[in-house]
Amino acid sequence: MTAAVDFDQAIHDAARLLRRSTHAIALVGAGLSAESGIPTYRGTGGLWTKFGEPTIDGWDLFLTDPALWWREALDGRHAESAFAKAIDSASPNPGHHALAELEHMGRLAHIITQNIDDLHRKAGSRHITEIHGNRFLVRCTNCGGRDRLSTISLDRIPPLCPECGGILKNDTVMFGEPIPQDALHECYRQTSMTDLFLSIGTSAVVYPAADFPVMAKRRGAPLIEINPEETPLSEIADVVIRASAGQALPAVVELLHQEL
Ligand code: APR
Repeated sequence: MTAAVDFDQAIHDAARLLRRSTHAIALVGAGLSAESGIPTYRGTGGLWTKFGEPTIDGWDLFLTDPALWWREALDGRHAESAFAKAIDSASPNPGHHALAELEHMGRLAHIITQNIDDLHRKAGSRHITEIHGNRFLVRCTNCGGRDRLSTISLDRIPPLCPECGGILKNDTVMFGEPIPQDALHECYRQTSMTDLFLSIGTSAVVYPAADFPVMAKRRGAPLIEINPEETPLSEIADVVIRASAGQALPAVVELLHQEL
C-alpha cells in the first residue's frame, strides 16, 4: 500500500478506537514539541544524539550544594543553552491544539507528558501530569509544593518554601532524581483506568514512563503510536501512524468532527 493510503487507513483506525473509548490517555514525548522548534533528545537530530547523554549526577550535585546550583542557574549557566532558549520562545503547534481539542470533545481524559515546556497548558489542555516536571515551576524538596518560578523571592539563595521552609528546586526532574510521588501515583492511576492508550512523539525508552503503554496494553487497552520513526512500542501497537504529530493529530480530530 502507498504511504498515503497507510496514513489515511491509520487515521481512520485511530478515530474509530477513540470514538469507542471512554477513558483514552496519551503519553507524550519530545516529538510533539519538535514542531514547536524544541529539539528532541534521541532519534534524528536529537540533543543526546548530537552531544551524548548528560551525566546522571544532577540530583546529587544539587543536594550537595543547593545554593551553588541556584547561583549557577541564576547567572545563566543552566539557562543559556539552545534548548532552554527554544523552550522559552516556543508556542504550541497543531499537535498540542489537537490534543486540547480531543480533551474538549471528551475524547481524551488525560495527558501524561514527559515534556517540561508547559505547551499543553498553553494550548488549552487541563488534564495533564508532567512526569518530568515543568521548567516554569519550582518545587519544595520537603513538602513537594509547587509554585510558578516567577512568583518566588530570590532574595535568599537557595529560596525556601513559603509553606514549610524547605529548600526549593526547579520542578524539572533532574537526572538521578526520583519522580515526584504525586505525579507518579497519578500516572499509574490513569494507566489503570484507561481503555485506549496513545503514545505520541516518544522514543519509549525512558522509565517509568515507557512502562505505562505496556501496562495498559497488558490490561487489554488498544495502543496507538504516532511517531515518524519506529520505537520499541511499534511491534505491539494496534495502530501505528508513521507521521508527525502535527500532521496526524489534526487529521484524527477532523475525522471525529466530521462524524459528530
Ligand atoms: N511528531 C511525532 N514524533 C516525533 C516528531 C514529530 N514531529 N519528531 C520526532 N519525533 C519522535 C522521534 O522519532 C522520537 O521517537 O519523537 C521521539 C523523541 O524521542 P526522545 O528525544 O527520546 O524524547 P522522549 O521520548 O520524550 O524522551 C523521554 O528522556 O532525556 C529524557 O527527560 C528526557 O523527557 C525526556 C525523556
